[in-house]
Parts: sequence; structure tokens; C-alpha cells
Amino acid sequence: MGWTERQRAMLQAMGLRVWSPVAGPEATATGEPVHLPELDVDTMPSPPPARRSSPPPHAASDAAVPPPSATPAPLAGAVADLDWPALRQAVAACQACSLCETRRQTVFGVGAERAHWMVVGEAPGEQEDRRGEPFVGPAGQLLDRMLAALGLSREVDGTDPAQQVYIANTLKCRPPGNRNPTPDELARCEPFLMRQIALVQPRIILAMGRFAVQALLRTDAPIGKLRGQVHTYQGVPLVVTYHPAYLLRNLPDKAKAWADLCLAADVLAGVVDAPARAG
Ligand code: URA
Repeated sequence: MGWTERQRAMLQAMGLRVWSPVAGPEATATGEPVHLPELDVDTMPSPPPARRSSPPPHAASDAAVPPPSATPAPLAGAVADLDWPALRQAVAACQACSLCETRRQTVFGVGAERAHWMVVGEAPGEQEDRRGEPFVGPAGQLLDRMLAALGLSREVDGTDPAQQVYIANTLKCRPPGNRNPTPDELARCEPFLMRQIALVQPRIILAMGRFAVQALLRTDAPIGKLRGQVHTYQGVPLVVTYHPAYLLRNLPDKAKAWADLCLAADVLAGVVDAPARAG
């Protein structure tokens, strides 16, 4: 099969090396065969805005807001005015839930403090808990490759804010055994994320996975229903997509995640309208 430039770039971003037809079957960097049909590259969306010609998908308003969580967020008032150093300190010292007893360290966030892009994930895993940085394990490596395919990076120095990404999680501490966050943990940790978003003032938010979506859009609707539209969080356009860890287990959905990133890029480029700011 002959791959177009776009398809090659996409496959490379996903960590798959494409061999030319004369060289034999497609293979990974380790030489293991991969099942390219699973990726369905022929139906992949177009790359970033400058090269796009397809009509923009329609925007959507915020999802319905369910009732607030049972547990009030005890820290909300306390963190609402903190600057970066104070916020970082508050997170490091946090004992608002029992995760403080099992964490190695808190995982605050990474990236330029005024990045145009903000990625919100779920919670630190084992490697993040060890290193104190979000998304450094296999899921993070996939995330970095996807961002790089759009010319984006978590690096702080030397880049244009338009190419910078701030990455944070809904939870700042690792749930033991990587179990799902509880509603109580999410509610108690939420003010930290809210403050991070307020300080970064991103131009676009990518909510990755169920817990980020629940925290930001207050909805239990499945990702599949929410993606492909532009939502807003406090006036900031927000695009929903699959969590990279899920993508590692569900190769076909990588193409959809790529479409989501392209949608976010289109919003920033003004190719797609974000919902009007409320109020
Ligand atoms: N998954 C997440 O959601 N966040 C991380 O930091 C790592 C894995």
C-alpha cells in the first residue's frame, strides 16, 4: 500500500514505522509486524489547520451540569487567589484526602505557565508518582508524540506559547494500584486544577478521558458522545478526547483522537467557531 505524506506523519506520530512496499510488510521499530488495517488510516482526519480544506465541524455548548458532588471542596476558597509558587506549595503539602498517605510525592503539572494549550488528564500513575511529573509513562509518551505531530510540546523554554502545552491532572496524587479516583478525591482536589486553569488562561483545553471530562464539564456522558464538538469551560473552548492509556489498548480509536487534536487546532486557528462566551 502507498501511504500519503499525511498518513505517514500520522503513523509516525503514533509510534509506528511504515516500511515502503518494496521493503516488505509494515513493521514497528522493533521489527514486529503491526496490523495497519486496525488503524484505518484511510479514514483519518486531515492534519492541522493550515493544510485543511474540509468544512469545520459544528460547535456545541457545554454539556448539562449534574448536581455538585456530595463532598464540598474544602480548599476552594483557600486556593482561589494563590499564585504559582503558593499553589505549588499548597499542592505539595496537601492532606485533604487519604491519597497523601500513599503517594511518594504530589504531581503538580508541567509546561509553560502561559501555554496556549492545556491538557487535562486523570491522575498520576506509578511512574508519575516516582518522577513528580504528569504523563511520563507509556501513555505520556503517546501523548507527547501526538502533540509533537501538531508541533506542540510541554517544553518550557524557547518556544512560542502557541506551541506550548501545560499538562495537569484532575488528581495530584496517585491512587493506590492506579484505581479510579473516587468522587470525594476528585472534589477535594478540584480547586487545584481550577486554579491552574485560571493561572494558565489557556486558549484551548483538551480533556482526556472520563474523569477530566467529568471534572470540567460535569457530565457522565461517554467520551464517544462528547468528542467531535467544541465545548467550553469557563469561557475557554474545550475539546474532549480519549485518554492516551485507553488509546494504547484501543488502536482504532487513535484516529479519532487525532481528529480531536485537529479539531482543537482548528479552534485555535479560527477555522472552527468556539461556542460564544456566556455572560
Ligand atoms: N494518566 C494520567 O491521566 N495522568 C498521568 O499523569 C499519567 C497517566
